[in-house]
Amino acid sequence: MNTYTRETHTVEETEAAGYELAKLCLENGKGFVAMYGDLGAGKTAFVRGMARLAAPGSAVTSPTYSIVNEYTPAGGKSPTLFHFDMYRVSDWDDLDSIDFDSYFKRGALIVTEWSENIGFALPARHVRVDIEKLGELTRRISVKEVELT
Ligand SMILES: Nc1ncnc2c1ncn2[C@@H]1O[C@H](COP(=O)(O)OP(=O)(O)O)[C@@H](O)[C@H]1O
Ligand SMILES: [Mg+2]
Repeated sequence: MNTYTRETHTVEETEAAGYELAKLCLENGKGFVAMYGDLGAGKTAFVRGMARLAAPGSAVTSPTYSIVNEYTPAGGKSPTLFHFDMYRVSDWDDLDSIDFDSYFKRGALIVTEWSENIGFALPARHVRVDIEKLGELTRRISVKEVELT
């Protein structure tokens, strides 16, 4: 999976970028996507696109109050995408309260919003997605593979 940057001009294009990244992740065995970007950047829109590929038929909403949303494909038995919103998370106590570690063993794709809040807990290898708001409708989406040493 190569590093790439693209610009989108509609929500649908941002969703499509998410769909394509989920496809790349599943094809290349990448299990963790860390998203960065301000409020309203389009992180949840991007995740909606990821879910269309990774857990078709599930409705994506911002998991602000629950911290994590689990998405199971229509007709499926177990979740194939975990969607975390780390906005209110600041330390291991917060992550332990939702048993964060246990999610890694469940074989689903994981995506996190507000990943800057869990820098201490990111897996050594993950995919980083930055979304920047360049204008009312324009977003710059950067994707890169990260390997922490
Ligand atoms: N190109 C674009 N991509 C994504 N969202 C866009 C775009 N242009 C405008 N928007 C708007 O920006 C907002 C993004 O919201 P959301 O995905 O919830 O952001 P975040 O999760 O980063 O806070 C939505 O209101 C959406 O309609
Ligand atoms: Mg969001």
